Amino acid sequence: MNPFPEDIFTEPSDVDPDTLANLGPLARLAGRWEARKGVDINPKAEGPERRTFIERIAFDAIDPQANGPQLLYGLRYHIHITTEEEDITFHDQVGYWLWEPATGVILQTLAIPRGQVALASGHGKPGDDHIRVTAARGQTDYGICSTAFLEYGFRTDSYDIDISFDGDDAWSYDIRTMLLVHGRTEPFEHHDTNRLRRTAPGKPNPLKQILDRRKAAS
Ligand code: HEM
Repeated sequence: MNPFPEDIFTEPSDVDPDTLANLGPLARLAGRWEARKGVDINPKAEGPERRTFIERIAFDAIDPQANGPQLLYGLRYHIHITTEEEDITFHDQVGYWLWEPATGVILQTLAIPRGQVALASGHGKPGDDHIRVTAARGQTDYGICSTAFLEYGFRTDSYDIDISFDGDDAWSYDIRTMLLVHGRTEPFEHHDTNRLRRTAPGKPNPLKQILDRRKAAS
């Protein structure tokens, strides 16, 4: 059954401008985070390589977004990973985490500078201690898109991430990215885990900051 309305143009008129108050299960992610003991299993010619890494993540509240009647609240994020051994970037990722209060849909967009993007989806509700989103290659809605080289050498068949919150100031993730490496018959599980600690709270979204300043000045 099609869950969408006939009128795809009319935007909601009574939008709360305060993103931090409307992030549902994503609320606890807002702010800055750090960890020094992430674990990555990645594909190398000689077999799986296991590395520990240092991770910093920034999640910034964005203004409410409307696709016609569909209203989304969200966070723009940047993940930067280095290692103890080297200061060069080990992994870099940008995107958005979004929540649609009307349906409970959770979305994560991700872009990594290997020439790869994905849109993963799941469901949740405010206060959830655990959230999960997934994407699969070949899907036109919640899919994965890679360069021609990656399609040939490291075909990425699926992506899924589980996030577990531990109070307001810590959370952990478990990411499984299934790769079919050229010349191999068995899929490779590119696996990443980490537990992050808060280094700064979330700041209000730009529109909310403007409205707060106007209110303070009047
Ligand atoms: C904490 C997160 C991650 C870390 C630390 C990480 C790290 C790495 C490392 C070190 C490699 C091997 C690099 C090389 O030999 O050139 C690799 C390969 C790869 N990663 Fe990740 N990765 C992460 C997440 C992801 C995610 C979320 C995806 C896709 C959705 C992804 C897709 C790939 C692919 C396709 C390759 C193989 C391409 C290649 O080696 O050229 N990775 N990753």
